[in-house]
Formats: sequence, structure tokens, C-alpha cells
Amino acid sequence: MPSIAPSARDVRYSRIRELAEIAMGMEGVLRLYFGESNLPTPAFIKEAATRAMNDGFMFYTENAGMPSLRRALADYYQRMHGVSRDPATEIVVTTSGVQALNVTIRCTLDPGDEAIVLTPAWPNGSAIIQMCNAKVVQVAQPLIGNRYGIDFAALEAAVTSRTRLLLYTSPSNPLGWTAKVDEQRALLEFARRHNLWLMADEVYERLYYEGDIVPTILKLSTPEDAVIVVQSFSKSYCMTGWRLGWIVTRRDLAARAAQLNEFIISHAPSFTQKAAEIALAEGEPFIADLVGRLRANRDFCVQALRTMPGITVPEPEGAFYLFPRVDGLTDSFDFCRRLLMETKVGLAPGVAFGEGGEGSVRLCYAADRSILEPAMERLAGFLNK
Ligand SMILES: Cc1ncc(COP(=O)(O)O)c(C=O)c1O
Repeated sequence: MPSIAPSARDVRYSRIRELAEIAMGMEGVLRLYFGESNLPTPAFIKEAATRAMNDGFMFYTENAGMPSLRRALADYYQRMHGVSRDPATEIVVTTSGVQALNVTIRCTLDPGDEAIVLTPAWPNGSAIIQMCNAKVVQVAQPLIGNRYGIDFAALEAAVTSRTRLLLYTSPSNPLGWTAKVDEQRALLEFARRHNLWLMADEVYERLYYEGDIVPTILKLSTPEDAVIVVQSFSKSYCMTGWRLGWIVTRRDLAARAAQLNEFIISHAPSFTQKAAEIALAEGEPFIADLVGRLRANRDFCVQALRTMPGITVPEPEGAFYLFPRVDGLTDSFDFCRRLLMETKVGLAPGVAFGEGGEGSVRLCYAADRSILEPAMERLAGFLNK
């Protein structure tokens, strides 16, 4: 009997999904395990997609995405960050952040290569590295006082002659940690010194509570640096189901990623690309409102968690997750399963996020208050038992 290739067979099932699938078979669950808000995509973006369809945007486009969207993205970087990148050669549109990770990891790693991933991290980056027959080397971010940091000694120790890539996420899912400029500078210096691709997953860039926008690594790096920024429309514009993202990177990688897109997905849907131009042009008031809601939710949940027994929760700087540590917890999956069965509150187990994740649980506070309030109450009741 032919068998499944080991490189596919050995990729672990997402433990977030595992928990979610139990929850999906139940009625009335307060779902805080996935990373999305229950806000629909704003009307002005939906209308732009309808208009685009009516205007005939339903045919194949360039593998790298429509030139007009790439220009809009270049304008966005100029306007928001004062960063100049060439839309024709340094920006590629993808069919989601996941696909941006997929195609760039595929372009930078060969079988047997190694990639360092800062963890706890959303598991997809590591899974994609494994799907490329490469090895994941996880380096945990330590909690120092009330803030996560980067263990540069551990990073140095993790480098071997096969290391090609360093992946970090800022703002982080699940930590909410956001790389400060000096941390970005140190990561860039580290990557340059060891001749590594530096991949920055910046999909939560706009969900930031310490200012308007997270400083992108592109501000410190030059177009010649081996830097890859992975981005998405999912989180900033509540467009998770639309599947649209982008990459900003060195021109040789951008060209190769666009070429490989032909064989993976060809390109993102044409009418969603058109709608995304409107999202970029007119989305700022929506984002300001979204971040205001998220900040209030974050403050509410942090306060509630800090009154619960055995919980330590650092205040996140960005994204929409809390990653509380539970004293004495050694099996976060079992904890989440029991919490779900007994209280119908669905959280993601910390173990799903790799090294440094066990002992914590992740909750997404992008849900409505009418969900968060009873969820916090039930969690407190569960912990008090
Ligand atoms: C850190 C991180 N990167 C990338 C993504 C991908 O987002 P999408 O594929 O919806 O664009 C997510 C989604 O949860 C994420 O948490």
C-alpha cells in the first residue's frame, strides 16, 4: 500500500483545532479559542467587493497581485511608516498571511535546513517549516518581570551551520509582546551576523495599544537586507474569511515568491484585491474604532483575570490575546477540555504554541462584551473550585 509521505504525516494536528473541534460539536460555547473578532467586515469594504465584481474584476490577475493593489500597499508604507518600497519588485500579494508564510518559507528553506522560531508562537509557522522537510528549532521568549523578552544567549546557542531563517511575530500571537525598536535592531544585527533570513510576522501591526502603529522592521532594514515581512488584511479589517495578505521583501525573493505562486494558488481573487485597495484607502477610522474596543476588552479581561486565584497575566502591548499562566498547570489541553465540558468556555491550550507555552492558556478578547463577561465569570468559578 502506498503510504502518506512522512514529511506530511509527521506534521502535528493543531491543538487549537483539536480543542475547537470538540467545542464545535457542542451548543452554546463561549468561543475564545480562535483569533478573530465577531465583528463583520465593514460595509464599505463589502460594497467595494460587490462593486468590483460588477465592474468585471473576476478574471486571472498577475501572480504577484494587481499592480494597483501593490501600489496602494507601497503608499500605505510611505504614509504610515515613512518607508519606501518598490511596488513592482518588492511587494507581493498573497492569498492570506498563511500563504505568505508558506511561499516565503518554501523559497528560503531546503530539506534538512533549520529555522529558529521564537515561541510561544502561533503553530502554523513551525508546521510550514516542517512541511518543507526542514527542522524547527524553538527558542522560548522568557517572561522577565511583567514583560516578555528575547533570550539572545539561547538564540546564539541555537544557530548551526544549517540555520537559514529566524521567524518572530510582533505583535505576538499568543503573548501580545511587541518588539521594541532596540529589540528589532538586535534581531536584525543577529540575522545579519549569522547570514539568516529574518522573517517578521507583522499581521497584528494595527492592533497596538502603545501608539498608532507598531514600528515595522522595514524601518530599520534596507531593501537589500534578507528581511521578509508577512502581512494580512485579516486582523486589521476583520477580513479573516476573505483570505488576503502580502509580503514585503528583497526583490529576488519577491520575484521567486510571485513565480511559485503560479503553482500554489496562482494569485489572490481579483475582486477581493480590488476591495482591499479601498480598505487601505478608507480604513483608518474603522481601525481606530476597532482598537478602542479591543483596548477596553483587554483592560476588562486583564482586571478580571488578576482577581482570579493562581493566575499571572502580563499586560499585552498588541494583538488581541491574553496568555495567562496558571499556577501548577502541567497539562493545558486537559485544563481547556475540562473548562469547556464543565463551563462551556472555549480557550486555546498553551501547549499548542510550542516551547514555553505549557502552563498557560490563550484567550482571544476580540469577542463581544456579552461573551467576555460570562466567560470571565465562569473561568473564575472554575478556578475557585
Ligand atoms: C501570527 C499570525 N500570523 C499569520 C496569521 C494568518 O492570518 P491569515 O491567514 O488569516 O491572513 C495569523 C492568524 O491567526 C496569526 O495569528
